[in-house]
Amino acid sequence: MVAGQMVVVYGAYGHTGRFMVAELRERGFVPVLSGRDADKLKELAVSVNESEVRPASVDDPAALDRALAGAAAVINCAGPFATTAAPLVEAALRAGIPYLDVAGEVEATLDTFAHFTDRARTAGAVVVPAMAFYGGLGDLLVTAALGDWEKADEAHIAYALDSWHPTPGTRAAGAVSRARRGGRRVRFANGGMEYRDDSAPTVDWVFPDPVGTRTVVGEFLTADVATAPTHLPVAEFSTYMTVDAVKDVLAPDSPAPTAVDERGRSAQTFLVDVVVRSGGRERRVVARGQDIYAVSAPLAVEAVHRILTGRTRTLGVASAGALFDAADFLRALAPHISVELSE
Ligand SMILES: NC(=O)c1ccc[n+]([C@@H]2O[C@H](COP(=O)([O-])OP(=O)(O)OC[C@H]3O[C@@H](n4cnc5c(N)ncnc54)[C@H](OP(=O)(O)O)[C@@H]3O)[C@@H](O)[C@H]2O)c1
Repeated sequence: MVAGQMVVVYGAYGHTGRFMVAELRERGFVPVLSGRDADKLKELAVSVNESEVRPASVDDPAALDRALAGAAAVINCAGPFATTAAPLVEAALRAGIPYLDVAGEVEATLDTFAHFTDRARTAGAVVVPAMAFYGGLGDLLVTAALGDWEKADEAHIAYALDSWHPTPGTRAAGAVSRARRGGRRVRFANGGMEYRDDSAPTVDWVFPDPVGTRTVVGEFLTADVATAPTHLPVAEFSTYMTVDAVKDVLAPDSPAPTAVDERGRSAQTFLVDVVVRSGGRERRVVARGQDIYAVSAPLAVEAVHRILTGRTRTLGVASAGALFDAADFLRALAPHISVELSE
């Protein structure tokens, strides 16, 4: 039974945190609103009619312990995760509860694996970084596409976003990653990160209808390269993003997402086209939906539900594809995300 269990949302008053709070309520959990700003938390509590407000800053372990007390799990929605992930994972390990985050930062996600894999496994804890649109969905799609294959030569994840209006959190995370890369770009090659001074290539990608052929930025780094390669025997991973979406997210004057429906979702649509190849065979999985921020909530809350009901395959730091039955998880995401698989 998960009904009535408390789940802490850290960064609850952020754009993604608000979707998370609403999704937890819809699924029968009791959201506990946490984050660093007590006034913003109180304001949110009034607007969503929740009573559990627990302010805590990431540099105050005692406050984080009070925030997590009695909870069944914590979902960290406060980015940049380069700053927030480690203190929240530490607090979750002290509390003995699962930790999930929605990090889109490649380096911060790699850090979570690097710093906590041994400790989380020894503690019998579950730590799931990047349990969101980037990092979580792509990993589940590639895992489901591989299915019964023991290995693959290539996995390609191509994103077609009709627009990408970034939140302040996305801009801040991008700035942290750019600073960390010292102005260079990074591509994922030969199983690791490779820093380069040249420009990313552009190619044409034929998406399924109705998107069709679009120019995409190749080697566009998403958190999927920090999650899927941790558990999938695929020789080469490639990620792509439609050029227009890259321009949108980088433009200083792009607006923030605007709500167009009663759930607070923006009009943004996405199509994720995953192709895997092995010895001349090819499989394709396509996922479609609306609003990459909003959809991260059903992804993370479905993950919490599965962890708390014991539907997991491993312990320690694990990505979505390693932790869950990917095909079954993807089916459970309807109607938020529709998925088609073809051989
Ligand atoms: N992987 C994915 O697909 C995916 C999906 C959605 C979101 N994300 C990531 O999630 C993060 C949040 O996104 P968002 O859209 O919700 O952005 P947002 O609306 O700007 O919210 C950011 C939240 O993070 C909090 N925060 C920032 N720095 C903090 C710190 N040092 N300590 C405590 N709280 C801090 C902010 O609190 P204050 O207002 O007090 O600063 C705010 O609550 C971003 O990094 C974004 O890239 C990733």
